[in-house]
Amino acid sequence: MTSTTHAPGVRIRDLTVVYRTPAGELPAVRGVDLELVPGTITGVVGESGSGKSTLALSLLNAVQPPGRIAAGAVEIDGLGDVLTLGGEDLRRTRGRQVGYVFQAAQNSLNPLKTIGKQLLDLGRSHDVADPRALVRDAKVLLARMGLDGGRVLDSYQHELSGGMRQRVGIMLALVLNAKVVVLDEPTTALDMITQATILRIIREVHEERELTTLVITHDVGAIAEVADGLAVMYGGRIVEHGPVRKVLATPRHPYTQGLIRAIPRLSGDISLARALPGRPPTLGTLPAQGCVFRERCERRLAVCDTDDPVVITRNGRSVACHAVERAAAVAMRKEYA
Ligand SMILES: Nc1ncnc2c1ncn2[C@@H]1O[C@H](COP(=O)(O)OP(=O)(O)O)[C@@H](O)[C@H]1O
Ligand code: SF4
Ligand SMILES: [Mg+2]
Repeated sequence: MTSTTHAPGVRIRDLTVVYRTPAGELPAVRGVDLELVPGTITGVVGESGSGKSTLALSLLNAVQPPGRIAAGAVEIDGLGDVLTLGGEDLRRTRGRQVGYVFQAAQNSLNPLKTIGKQLLDLGRSHDVADPRALVRDAKVLLARMGLDGGRVLDSYQHELSGGMRQRVGIMLALVLNAKVVVLDEPTTALDMITQATILRIIREVHEERELTTLVITHDVGAIAEVADGLAVMYGGRIVEHGPVRKVLATPRHPYTQGLIRAIPRLSGDISLARALPGRPPTLGTLPAQGCVFRERCERRLAVCDTDDPVVITRNGRSVACHAVERAAAVAMRKEYA
């Protein structure tokens, strides 16, 4: 297995992940294509249940039963298709090549061992030659996130607050110097100010180490500060993707527009902010055909009930929406008329 010295690219192709339910296997991620450009941070946003965590788990081939990756590929430069890895290769990849914080990672620490002991276990399981350097790096990372590294490493998980555990999780994701980092809601247990600080530190470390990073959050406001690209998920699909500032300034998909309207910080006017009506779908309520967003969409067309909108990419921006596509076609016809 070769390792890359520069930020690797990650290409998710036609990924479908299903969960077994009483109604049969239903897709939580469906036909997703997403490229993580080397050296960039990609933010993924979307309401709860959109499939964000399932997508994150797929990047490490870590979907557990009753879930199953039904189709697709996750190609990482230097590693190949992660979905074909198994056993020891996969174990070595996780942590060492792909660092990660899974959602609710603050609960995934071992309650019976100090954080320092768990750090050394992690190092040993990845054949780290110099445990002292590992501890030193861990302390530096913790100090950057405002914690007393020595004290944290001597602590048991129950002696740390939720926010402290979350920062321990981020440290563990970064400490083995993985070049691809996947962070699923890494800052949810933190207050707004600490959240912004931690995201800024993630950005700094990302730049210093030339990483390729995926950050999942339901805080669209916070992502603007850290991400380069933004992917918007709904009902297991990526409905819009593009440079973060462009997507936030001129959202095209009706779902993205609704998400942004709901945030006073982004809509610019508290009195204009309004919640997105309706509720996100569950696996059971997702329509089998047509647009997954149609029940909540103000621009719904007849075709939306029958045909899945395909992703159309123009000038680096991708959108999957019949109404957007139709408007673009009309604009184009006018231009040539
Ligand atoms: N272990 C599971 N068993 C059954 N359904 C699941 C399981 N995990 C997630 N799901 C379903 O898959 C969909 C996507 O979930 P998830 O990936 O956690 O979304 P998000 O992270 O965006 O909230 C949801 O409808 C969720 O209920
Ligand atoms: S495809 Fe149709 S229902 Fe879906 S977001 Fe676009 S207009 Fe709305
Ligand atoms: Mg999640």
